[in-house]
Amino acid sequence: MCGIVGYIGSNDALPVLINGLRKLEYRGYDSAGIATIMNNELNIVKTKGRLSDLEEKLNGMNLGKSTIGIGHTRWATHGAPSDLNSHPHTNMSKTIAVVHNGIIENYIELKEELQNKGYKFASETDTEVIAHLADMYYNGDLIDTLIKVISRLKGSYAIGMISNEHPEDFVAVRKDSPLIVGLGTGENFIASDIPAILEHTRKIYLLEDNEIVHLTKSGVTICDINKNKITKEIFNVEWDVEAAEKGGYEHFMLKEMNEQPKVVHDTIAQRIINGKINFENFSVNRDTIKDINKIFIVACGSAYHAGMVGKYLIEHLAEIPVEVDIASEFRYRNPIVDEKTLIIIISQSGETADTLAALREAKKRNGKILAIVNVVGSSIAREADDVIYTWAGPEIAVASTKAYTTQLSIMYLLSTYFAELKGKITTNEAKKLVDELLDIPEKLKSVMSRASEIKELGSKYYKERDIFFLGRGLDYMVAMEGSLKLKEISYIHSEAYAAGELKHGTIALIEQGTVVFALATQEALFEKMLSNIKEVKARGASIIAIAQEGNEQLKDIADHVFYIPKIEDKLASILTVVPLQMFAYYCATIKGCDVDKPRNLAKSVTVE
Ligand code: G6P
Repeated sequence: MCGIVGYIGSNDALPVLINGLRKLEYRGYDSAGIATIMNNELNIVKTKGRLSDLEEKLNGMNLGKSTIGIGHTRWATHGAPSDLNSHPHTNMSKTIAVVHNGIIENYIELKEELQNKGYKFASETDTEVIAHLADMYYNGDLIDTLIKVISRLKGSYAIGMISNEHPEDFVAVRKDSPLIVGLGTGENFIASDIPAILEHTRKIYLLEDNEIVHLTKSGVTICDINKNKITKEIFNVEWDVEAAEKGGYEHFMLKEMNEQPKVVHDTIAQRIINGKINFENFSVNRDTIKDINKIFIVACGSAYHAGMVGKYLIEHLAEIPVEVDIASEFRYRNPIVDEKTLIIIISQSGETADTLAALREAKKRNGKILAIVNVVGSSIAREADDVIYTWAGPEIAVASTKAYTTQLSIMYLLSTYFAELKGKITTNEAKKLVDELLDIPEKLKSVMSRASEIKELGSKYYKERDIFFLGRGLDYMVAMEGSLKLKEISYIHSEAYAAGELKHGTIALIEQGTVVFALATQEALFEKMLSNIKEVKARGASIIAIAQEGNEQLKDIADHVFYIPKIEDKLASILTVVPLQMFAYYCATIKGCDVDKPRNLAKSVTVE
């Protein structure tokens, strides 16, 4: 799970690489490195640490101008973060340099084979076999060499490769790891993701697996592994470069939380035409819905939590049975899938390895795949039968916020859409829900505007060691997301519990002063929830309740009540989660944590 960028043109490659890597740091940030070519020699500079450490190292050197280069930002898989394990890696004579994202699964056998032939390894990485294989197969032609190299590789890869013998061209390829090509004027680029090169061009080739790219400053050609030329359509990026930057906020996470009213509006409003929900080019319609008798929702992390809300809604509104699975479990558990099963795959990045593998597993079993994805053209989007994009824009902070709320938005639309197609709700009921959906962005704004109330709670409780989140029904599903946010960015231990389950063990942990978030937005479950709140209160817990406006009953029992605007209960989760996101954010910032890049985590988990 790493970021790659490559440049060839007439300008100095170094700033292009560094600026590109900065936009890719969300993909990994434990080491960074670059390779350029000067006077027919390769210059490799790499270091353990953040990109700023690499810049510092480069500042102390005088590399001079090179018009070609590759760069890499790493998140370690094979070999701990270290200078030697950082990319680029080279062959022994330092004539070929490679950057790689992914995992070479057969690297141990390849390493043995190469070592037997006299190749000496400088690092513990799987990537280094690529550089030595390239040395072994090099015949003066970079394309031939790369084709021979990848014919030996098992696993996933996005590779960029340069050689000092080729200062005017370089090659790249991908398989199961993202890589795009940027088309400039007199300059061309590769990158793991679009923001890395957006300041230079909006014209992109989205590469498919095993397409070999050859770049010079004046052109890009693509061929398959038999060297047959491939013609590709240019994808024009329409969103703004600022969209991928912080735009004045202190952290990407804060910016992304604040973008929620807008992106939720984009995601919902554009799908409502004349008061009716419309998914463009969606194969599930009035005729085909009868072919679905079961749904699986499969995802990881926050996307999985969005899926849990989806289950509740689809079962309640459309009355189709739904199972929700963590992707890493689904792929190995013999799920009962057939051609009447719809598999909804949810993923912000569209590249999560387990989620992608689950998609492929479901496909093998003849399931019909619907992907709910944020990143356009990502692997999951490409391999699914149908795609609904969340249109959240690039999400850079590791902790998902706006991607999650747009995933919820799609779940609202989808469950209402299915319910109407199946005749489970009347046109009038559907219209009422649609009207409520259209009001969500304004309600989100009103919640966001009360950030200071949450900040105060953060400053009161940021030193806590354990915090519990309780809820019933939809509130329980949001509790899980709130708890995940808190853990991942503020490192406060927390647990989410179905409130009724607490007394079966975990209540033993509640003592004087234990902080408990009690989510109580669901009218039908309110009395039950109130009893659970009283149970923990009686054991000394400090209660922060979240309820809908107008609920007076909690005032006396909770230490603090945060009110969300009045909303149809089924849609409350999208508002309830926001104070929890903010609470995690403020606890983390007050503690001085690196909010956008929490320890041990990466944004896009493209390894198992
Ligand atoms: C990582 C991220 C989470 C995200 C999960 C799934 O763990 O840190 O925020 O929810 O991956 O990612 P996806 O891109 O598939 O939604």
